[in-house]
Amino acid sequence: MAQKLLEIRKLTAGFATEKGLLKATDGISLTVNKGQTVCIVGESGSGKSVTSLAIMRLIDYAGGMILEGSIDFHGQDLGKKTQEEMRGIRGNQIAMIFQDPMSSLNPVFTIGEQIAESLRLHQNKKDAEALKLAVDLIRLVGIPAPEIRAKQYPHELSGGMCQRVVIAIALACNPELLIADEPTTALDVTVQAQILDLLRKLQSELGMSILLITHDMGVAAEMADRIAVMYAGAIVEEGGVEEIFDHPSHPYTVGLLQSIPGFEGGRGGELYTISGTIPPIGQLPAGCRFHPRCPHAMDICRSEEPPDFMITGDHRTACWLFKDKPGSADTSREAKRA
Ligand SMILES: Nc1ncnc2c1ncn2[C@@H]1O[C@H](COP(=O)(O)OP(=O)(O)O)[C@@H](O)[C@H]1O
Ligand SMILES: [Mg+2]
Repeated sequence: MAQKLLEIRKLTAGFATEKGLLKATDGISLTVNKGQTVCIVGESGSGKSVTSLAIMRLIDYAGGMILEGSIDFHGQDLGKKTQEEMRGIRGNQIAMIFQDPMSSLNPVFTIGEQIAESLRLHQNKKDAEALKLAVDLIRLVGIPAPEIRAKQYPHELSGGMCQRVVIAIALACNPELLIADEPTTALDVTVQAQILDLLRKLQSELGMSILLITHDMGVAAEMADRIAVMYAGAIVEEGGVEEIFDHPSHPYTVGLLQSIPGFEGGRGGELYTISGTIPPIGQLPAGCRFHPRCPHAMDICRSEEPPDFMITGDHRTACWLFKDKPGSADTSREAKRA
């Protein structure tokens, strides 16, 4: 049986502002099993980064907080850990890589020293051994001439090579879970494909789980075992990658798929864009949060928030169109509100 590694339950996280508490994630639930790649996909501003920061408890430093719900890692609620305990978990069990590799690297240290530092901190390696292992890691992430590269500074490497170094630093702590927040967005398309290949290869070799955050359905298609589609703070559809691509149910998912260049459900080569824009946090419409942009909006969509409806055993969608479709409605969200 699949083993749960990370289980997010009804997580609401947000920010205290002059306008009151603003929810950037609104009761989201998501599970990542051991060895699995789960992708969170959605437009900019949907709450993807806030979700990852909440898992890492870095949200505290970004001026935000977890308001409700739990984040279980190995069955322990990370929301209840002290920052001290979180520092241990962050270094050793969960690692994170961000969009911009340059901002993650220190310009005044060689890349070998930076990887070695991570090995010293998290694996208690001594100087000479740490430097030797750093070279091995540089090789592992596919950088040619690792001994020479180890002695170079970040500015001497390309963006793609720097992102490989950032991945090496993350791997230095041998994480069980790697959270990658738009790891290839800043890179050009060819380099992006190489980094995704690298992540896939490392995952199969090292058996880690990956939570990959992207705005790009094409990236999710290549990487994910499961896809969670996020819109304006909520997961509106979630399921296995084939289910999502073969039977997308939420109109927002359908719109995202139609905007992939060359996707067969797309409109004959013409790039589709979903009309309208995502609402800022604190300004959600009544009813379904997607209804102002939805081509299928019905009366109920304008007044009542849809619960999750099960399409198949492990494919859910929060859309009223699926109220009377096969499968039973999961009304737990409603029940909780009642
Ligand atoms: N520090 C902050 N203070 C207030 N609002 C924030 C802060 N960080 C993010 N937000 C808001 O939270 C929402 C979700 O942001 P984010 O998680 O960064 O989206 P995504 O990563 O999906 O693009 C956005 O509306 C954003 O403006
Ligand atoms: Mg983001």
